[in-house]
Amino acid sequence: MIHVSNVSLVFSDKKLFEDVNIKFLPGNCYGIIGANGAGKSTFLKLLSKEKEPTKGDIIVEKNKRIATLKQDQNAYDELTAIEVVIMGHQRLFEIMKSKEYYYNLETLSEKEGYELANLEVEFAELDGWEAEYNAEKLLNGLNVPQSDFYQKMADIVPKQKVKVLLAQALFGTPDILLLDEPTNNLDYEAIRWLEDFLIDYEHTVITVSHDRHFLNNVCTHMVDIDYFQAKLYQGNYDFWLESSQLIQRLMNDRNKKKEERIEELKAFIARFSANLSKSRQATSRKKSLEKIELENIVPSLRKYPFIGFDIDKPLGKDVLDVSNLSYKIDDKMGFENVSFTINRGDKVAIVGDNDLLKQNLLAILAGEKEPLSGIVKWGQTIKTNYFSSDIDKYFENFDLNLIDWLRQFSNEQAESYIRGFLGRMLFSGDQPLKSVEYLSGGEKMRLLYSKLMLSNANTLIIDSPTIHLDLEAIQAVNNGLEAFNGAIIMFTHDHKLIDTVCNKIIEIGDLGAYSFNGTLDEYIDHVKKKDVKSVLYK
Ligand SMILES: Nc1ncnc2c1ncn2[C@@H]1O[C@H](COP(=O)(O)OP(=O)(O)OP(=O)(O)O)[C@@H](O)[C@H]1O
Ligand SMILES: [Mg+2]
Repeated sequence: MIHVSNVSLVFSDKKLFEDVNIKFLPGNCYGIIGANGAGKSTFLKLLSKEKEPTKGDIIVEKNKRIATLKQDQNAYDELTAIEVVIMGHQRLFEIMKSKEYYYNLETLSEKEGYELANLEVEFAELDGWEAEYNAEKLLNGLNVPQSDFYQKMADIVPKQKVKVLLAQALFGTPDILLLDEPTNNLDYEAIRWLEDFLIDYEHTVITVSHDRHFLNNVCTHMVDIDYFQAKLYQGNYDFWLESSQLIQRLMNDRNKKKEERIEELKAFIARFSANLSKSRQATSRKKSLEKIELENIVPSLRKYPFIGFDIDKPLGKDVLDVSNLSYKIDDKMGFENVSFTINRGDKVAIVGDNDLLKQNLLAILAGEKEPLSGIVKWGQTIKTNYFSSDIDKYFENFDLNLIDWLRQFSNEQAESYIRGFLGRMLFSGDQPLKSVEYLSGGEKMRLLYSKLMLSNANTLIIDSPTIHLDLEAIQAVNNGLEAFNGAIIMFTHDHKLIDTVCNKIIEIGDLGAYSFNGTLDEYIDHVKKKDVKSVLYK
């Protein structure tokens, strides 16, 4: 159990939490939600004691082991993937290293022999003999190629490193598992595997996420971070959302009969509980929703940012002509024979089985990576702007405040002009004066959108446009890209975004590209009838 007792946290310029009280119990999976910058990541850091509260206590039950998902992909360059996974259980890893040390000695003193014997006992108690097997099982579940298991982390591609770090957090069945946006950068299969793993997990899971589908599948409780508080609700995300909207209507309907609304709400809860108990959530650890108190549900006051793009120069007829492009990833052939054309009016989603191919293709189009061979020919009128999903790189070595950071990309230097673009993305008052160093993931993305709007480009190349963003911001991105009058080339896992924005699909595989004029749903139907896969993939 973790007990958060009267916790407050204040930064020099900002209050994040005030008198938060909440208990996390075993057997439950808590989904932490809240707007970008509300304090979710910071809250997890308080729970793991990486950060100290200004006031109050975080009490963790004795002898309970907490595991967190590490964010730094380059922290373990010299270790193999299996070692990194086993390191998730720190004590076990220490024992393994000490054992190795003793066994490598020529002779052992009596004392050393005794210590080694003790280590062996503890090792067996911690299931040490199974450690390697268990680590491999996790990596297999996450679809990490077996050839990577005993590779040094430095030699493993980022896509797989993320999974190794996830396996590290899950390894050795921690009593309390803290995950910060675990589905970011994971492929579809790995997300499904993680969901199943968490549904069956018997201990406490506390996970931050903006992914509704994930939250609905795994969570027994929601913790909403809003107004400096962390409020606990029973049920999954949809339940929280629908019931809070109903309450909102109830509050708006002062003149109508309140009782009617209350009956409606009760009926909703009854219906929802019945459905839920039939779903796969109804594993033994999931509790019924019957005890939900109406008074406990309050609506949120989240704000929507505004995304809209102006264009300097309208698009001419020709946008992009790509012919015979090939590219190598880590000395191996990434893709070859990629050719396609994009014309005025096209909004393109790049799809395919391998995320790395799609992301590298976008980087090549943006001129940030060199192809092995082939031609990328942009039309005369085209002015592009790009950002990649590796957003941290745009903020490295920058000890600038938000205004000065954005000013670097603007011809017009006046503060009021820059502030206009920040304001659209909900940075107002003193916020633009703080250093970009402290921005949360979602805030960094909002700032990148300010930069994108400021560019007045007529062609946007975007790798993962909704990553890190909260649901309100995702809606704003969706609206902005739908209304945009230029060309778009993007890669995203957000099915709804593709289906509402894009009118052209280009699938890319290692053997080439396949273009289709139509929506994503139409394309999915199309490939059921026509065998595209065997042409595109080895
Ligand atoms: N050391 C610090 N000094 C000042 N402000 C800080 C500091 N650390 C974090 N912040 C601010 O605290 C707020 C909360 O940050 P946090 O990373 O917890 O947000 P979050 O809810 O995880 O957001 P996201 O959904 O974007 O990941 C942000 O506005 C951030 O800029
Ligand atoms: Mg965060």
